[in-house]
Amino acid sequence: MKSMLASAPILAAALLLGTSAHAQDVSAGERSFNKCRACHQLGETAKTTIGPVLNGLFGRSSGSVEGYSYSPANKAAGLTWDDAVFADYIKDPKAKMPGTKMIFVGIKNEQEIKDLTAYLKQFDKDGKKL
Ligand code: HEC
Repeated sequence: MKSMLASAPILAAALLLGTSAHAQDVSAGERSFNKCRACHQLGETAKTTIGPVLNGLFGRSSGSVEGYSYSPANKAAGLTWDDAVFADYIKDPKAKMPGTKMIFVGIKNEQEIKDLTAYLKQFDKDGKKL
């Protein structure tokens, strides 16, 4: 019992650190987005390039950017992009969406995914920052 009490402050400190480490960091997310820039654009002047524009991603249906020529896999995936679906997808795009033409190894780090999500969420469907 005594030893449990002694370790309580350490536990509390670990929890506190845990909380701050899990906050979303938009600027880290912006750095993470550098991995996507070769193929995806964001913002008011964003254009479809190799991949579809990612403005307003959260809440929209997969395969729904007009004028972008999706693979049948992406077109028919029937996903709605929310935090959980996106996290699952970006970890390993080809596993979540077999047949996608997005060639990307994925992001395994949970914190990086959260930061990237926070960054992407800043852009509404017209590419305006919320
Ligand atoms: C080498 C190019 C490339 C890179 C790098 C890349 N993507 Fe993609 N991405 C694509 C292509 C191409 C598609 C369309 C896939 C299809 O039609 O099968 C796509 C599709 C997507 C979709 C589905 C969009 C929709 O409208 O359904 C999301 C979400 C996405 N990418 C996010 C990202 C993110 C976030 C990153 C960076 C972490 C990233 N991609 C990196 C090429 C890329």
